[in-house]
Amino acid sequence: MSAPETISIREATLSDVPALVDLNHAAYPDLIVDGAVYDPEQIEAHIGCFSRGQLVAELDRKMVGALSTFVPAASIPVLKQHTWLGITDGGMFLRHDPTGKALYLADIYVDPGVRRRGVGQALYRALFDLWRSLELEHVVAGGRLWGYSAVADQITAEDYVAQVAHGHRTDPVLSSQLRAGFLVRGVLSDYLHDWRSKNYATLLEWVNPAHVARRASPRATAADRFDGALPSSPRR
Ligand SMILES: CC(C)(COP(=O)(O)OP(=O)(O)OC[C@H]1O[C@@H](n2cnc3c(N)ncnc32)[C@H](O)[C@@H]1OP(=O)(O)O)[C@@H](O)C(=O)NCCC(=O)NCCS
Repeated sequence: MSAPETISIREATLSDVPALVDLNHAAYPDLIVDGAVYDPEQIEAHIGCFSRGQLVAELDRKMVGALSTFVPAASIPVLKQHTWLGITDGGMFLRHDPTGKALYLADIYVDPGVRRRGVGQALYRALFDLWRSLELEHVVAGGRLWGYSAVADQITAEDYVAQVAHGHRTDPVLSSQLRAGFLVRGVLSDYLHDWRSKNYATLLEWVNPAHVARRASPRATAADRFDGALPSSPRR
């Protein structure tokens, strides 16, 4: 029997930048043409403003995945319609503000050669550990609808998300995010120029259970803040 694979997570450092750029390009071959992948200056800016929020996953000591986060200023309505370029200030995290309330997941990506081996889930676990240690209110993200373009002439983006959320179809990105425990709060249009998703994205939220206990109706409150919210997807 082969030994179990060892996935470890650590903070990114400036010496990781070239490898992170390569990994990001490898993870998004279909977005390079749109310039929606990271360049070295962006990753350096992330590490410079919030090194704790830039995590790298290693599988048997080889870098195979990463995520990037920041804390949007509290004045930014993270549960309203927004675009990736807008909320991240062109991918530079210029409005990172440690006094904000949300941990925003700007990107998570895994080497195409090692997908479906638990690296993504290890990164999500580290994300929630980070959120816990920062004592923030929630984690928010926009998620690609990776498989939507294949059926976009048949169903709406909202129906696609609902079908994945209810287990009637799978999506490499959304299924992994639901598996990690994110709730779908709605659908964002024109989130990112991404032909696969037809530019749509899910608005995802992970709520701090401690905060939930203090709110009378936390899920309804969060959903009500978003126009066109979907029913929350069940946690697995
Ligand atoms: C999203 C991503 C990070 C997931 O990483 P991963 O390491 O493959 O995910 P995991 O191995 O942790 O998979 C976790 C679960 O997600 C679901 N999942 C992942 N890939 C899937 C697929 N192709 N089909 C169906 N379900 C899938 C499964 O439930 C899986 O658990 P299982 O394998 O035990 O059934 C990876 O697909 C990726 O890098 N995609 C390209 C970049 C991207 O679009 N990132 C998202 C930006 S919003």
